[in-house]
Amino acid sequence: MVAELELEPLFGGLRRFPDVEADNLQAYDATDRLLLETAVDYLRPETRMAVIGDRYGALTLGALVGNGVGHVRVNQDLYTGRLALQHNAEAAGLQGLFSAHELGKELLAGANLVLMQLPKSLAELEENADAVARYAAPDAVLLAGGRVKHMSLGMNGVLERYFSSVQPQLARRKSRVLVASNPKPVSTDPPYPVVEQLPELGITVCAHGAAFSGARLDIGTRYLLTFLDRMPEVRRMVDLGCGTGILATMFARHQPTAGVVATDQSAAAVASAMATAAANGLGDRVSVIHDDAMSTFDPGSADLVLLNPPFHLGASVHAGAALKMFQAAARVLAPGGELWTVYNSHLQYRPSLERLIGPTVEEGRNPKFTVTRSRRG
Ligand SMILES: C[S@@+](CC[C@H](N)C(=O)[O-])C[C@H]1O[C@@H](n2cnc3c(N)ncnc32)[C@H](O)[C@@H]1O
Repeated sequence: MVAELELEPLFGGLRRFPDVEADNLQAYDATDRLLLETAVDYLRPETRMAVIGDRYGALTLGALVGNGVGHVRVNQDLYTGRLALQHNAEAAGLQGLFSAHELGKELLAGANLVLMQLPKSLAELEENADAVARYAAPDAVLLAGGRVKHMSLGMNGVLERYFSSVQPQLARRKSRVLVASNPKPVSTDPPYPVVEQLPELGITVCAHGAAFSGARLDIGTRYLLTFLDRMPEVRRMVDLGCGTGILATMFARHQPTAGVVATDQSAAAVASAMATAAANGLGDRVSVIHDDAMSTFDPGSADLVLLNPPFHLGASVHAGAALKMFQAAARVLAPGGELWTVYNSHLQYRPSLERLIGPTVEEGRNPKFTVTRSRRG
């Protein structure tokens, strides 16, 4: 039986800002609470805690407040999540009590208790599990929690490849924790990034576990790439929401004099896009920036933006994510600059593109996708 923790004052003040905020979107969930409650049973006189996949700081700050650990090392994939943690820490007066790291040795060396929000994809879980087994203390315990409706037996299977013991706990408030301990020896090379050839494009693609569509070519992206010849010759191109960086890499190859920037909110995507550009000899041509919807880009600093927008926000379908990207393109495009977008034809994006960017024409349509060109007025 896990202890109930008094987390209300902290959780009540948590915000998602600068991520989208709405009445039905919360900055913490029952899994955060359950992970922190479960952690109580695994605290030791010298707990060295690491957190993986903290959304907005509930786990990191909750561990400081509720578990009484003196310091937490944390890894977050999303740019907005990192900012939200900073803001929430300031609001709670908990700055300086945690340090942020990329997934790897710095995050995990010597850690003996690791809290993790289970990621959506098994590939991301595998990369996380490998990192814990590889770098954390030999007696480390990993508490991996999720909403029961999003959990699958495949997750236990992945953890069992990296830990000798994986014990599912009883579900509480529709969340469940898997307790993984006794890390197994790992292979010499980490399994990620996956490196694969894409013969149809003649490039190599590198993908970390959390990268969209892995090392495969998304079919929308494939369609957008058939328009490369029709795009204007430019000085400054941005691959917005770059994922593994296929659009940036193909564009850099197609227009050898263009400056190419790839950007994504996901650190895993950023690392993948850097690796993809480098694997194709374009590491010095493609700069990759971790950012939320180009928030750090100067207005008018791009002549061309390519976009295969997301249509999921967390587990729910939400057009807001794509609209946010259109707004960002409107700000960052120079007058006369162009946004080329590919999207599922049933999504009625054209009026939003007209309104937010400017005159928009359909450049092509196949049975599934539409490609539009929007010109910034
Ligand atoms: C449909 S995927 C496309 C990936 C890649 N361009 C491709 O074509 O394979 C959308 C990408 O947008 C990224 N993304 C979503 N919202 C974003 C935001 N606000 N700022 C930056 N990137 C974002 C996601 O992380 C994801 O990598």
